[in-house]
Amino acid sequence: MEETYDIALATEHDLDAVLDLQERNLPKNGGTLSARLSRGWFETAMAAMPVVVARRAGRLVGYLVSAPVAAFTEVSVVQAMLEAYRGASDAYIYGPICVDEIERGQGVANAMFASLRAQLPGREGILFIRCDNAASLRAHGRMGMCEVAKFYHNGTQFVVLSYVG
Ligand SMILES: CC(C)(COP(=O)(O)OP(=O)(O)OC[C@H]1O[C@@H](n2cnc3c(N)ncnc32)[C@H](O)[C@@H]1OP(=O)(O)O)[C@@H](O)C(=O)NCCC(=O)NCCS
Repeated sequence: MEETYDIALATEHDLDAVLDLQERNLPKNGGTLSARLSRGWFETAMAAMPVVVARRAGRLVGYLVSAPVAAFTEVSVVQAMLEAYRGASDAYIYGPICVDEIERGQGVANAMFASLRAQLPGREGILFIRCDNAASLRAHGRMGMCEVAKFYHNGTQFVVLSYVG
């Protein structure tokens, strides 16, 4: 990856840009994110665990959330994943992850993951990906994550991946 990306922990000043990036990547806008999370949700997540962002020339171009399982009690697709695979007792949820469309294919996702992993050594992370999200499956396969289960939610099939930091 080029040196042009600054990878850092998110602060409250990133929230507007994170929410904007999320909005542009929701299914209603042609995107592939599975759930819309509120500003309050992101604030709570940031206080609990690392939320990593990527910036280029001062502009936010990506974010990667890590959060405790308990943060997702209201998110039905995550509950469906946990029924298929629960992971270790201290496992955390990896994601959502999103990279701005014009910055994709340059390893930004992997750079954010490397930063997250360094901050949570030895802990299991679990995530789900829609089976038809080829870009995400490729990106996360390259990161060395392993498929551990599959599940359906609202008629869509998802794969569950796991790794240990
Ligand atoms: C999934 C995602 C985070 C990957 O981020 P990334 O930084 O682009 O990851 P990579 O650089 O490793 O690229 C991964 C794959 O994206 C695809 N890709 C490359 N350039 C692309 C572009 N301009 N636009 C779309 N996809 C592209 C390629 O298939 C690439 O795999 P390849 O290098 O083996 O061909 C990003 O595509 C994204 O934010 N998607 C929208 C939100 C989403 O689906 N999040 C994940 C939900 S599980």
